[in-house]
Amino acid sequence: MNSFGRIFRLHIFGESHGTHVGICLDGVPPGIYLTQTDFDADIERRKPQAVGTTKRKEKDVPIILSGVFNNYTTGAPLTIVFTNEQHNASDYHNMTYHYRPGHSDFTTHVKYKGYNDFRGGGHFSGRLTLPIVAAGVVAKKIIKPIEISAKITSIGGTTTDFEDIIQSVVNENDSIGGIVQCVVSNVPVGLGEPFFDSLESLLAHAMFSIPGIKGIEFGSGFKLATMKGSEANDCFINEQGKTKTNHSGGIIGGISSGNDITFSVVVKPPSSIGKTQFSYHWATKKIEALTITGRHDACIALRVPIVVEALTACVLADCMLIQKSCG
Ligand SMILES: Cc1cc2nc3c(=O)[nH]c(=O)nc-3n(C[C@H](O)[C@H](O)[C@H](O)COP(=O)(O)O)c2cc1C
Repeated sequence: MNSFGRIFRLHIFGESHGTHVGICLDGVPPGIYLTQTDFDADIERRKPQAVGTTKRKEKDVPIILSGVFNNYTTGAPLTIVFTNEQHNASDYHNMTYHYRPGHSDFTTHVKYKGYNDFRGGGHFSGRLTLPIVAAGVVAKKIIKPIEISAKITSIGGTTTDFEDIIQSVVNENDSIGGIVQCVVSNVPVGLGEPFFDSLESLLAHAMFSIPGIKGIEFGSGFKLATMKGSEANDCFINEQGKTKTNHSGGIIGGISSGNDITFSVVVKPPSSIGKTQFSYHWATKKIEALTITGRHDACIALRVPIVVEALTACVLADCMLIQKSCG
């Protein structure tokens, strides 16, 4: 659904080409200092800037509608909205029955009986990650002194020369995928609510909400399948539970171990490419050539690190508030 979290709960709304996108946060503790400028740095990091990012430029000014009084959170629902100014719906007219392969056009048309706003992917657009980033700004204040840092570790399977690779796919009217790694430090022991709300489950749930994320691994992840127990076990080196290695990615039994939480997500190549593809047309009932126009990201991975940080912060804020409420 469009809500996530138990105590620190997000409700997200809006469409790419509607008037606004936004988020309502419930469960925000009262007394957190919060002003519009607190959002600047994170919002700037999500903006398209590098080669391979969309030419759609928005101001992205957060408008706080509720939940803040005299620059402090009140404890009431905190609603933040952003105006969509730079949309161009004409880019999407030819997609009504010629759905983009790899995008949500087909599945949403069927699921919502054709009533969905398909312009720019509608509610399934990467634009919805803007209010998520705003939620992350609030969550990061709640989880202090936990620090979260996400960065790109590979693009198109390589770990260097990202700009060259991206420029070459842009020249080919194509797109490219990547991997984003997240490291969380200063984490207390004990966050996560097994069985079903293990910390891995919650983080994975949150990460798969980001459009275009198709995989996640914690710690040594898929490499663990090739290791022996003697290699994979993280031996303790002190009373606080610090370990010599961190193959488990800071989570044991679904609960934070106090070591850094580490995970990586797979970001797919965005589906909207200028390169001609041949795909079924629902009106003509034939396979037809499709050339997608419009302003698209050629590499979503460039824009994802701050979104990963934001949702990680939201999950941890929720876990910390649950932990507190349990005494
Ligand atoms: C920040 C961001 C920007 C995105 N920009 C585009 C884009 O320009 N073109 C595109 O086809 N997909 C883009 N996407 C991905 C689509 O929204 C996503 O692939 C689509 O909703 C289908 O969902 P899925 O890939 O998770 O299955 C973007 C995603 C994010 C997070």
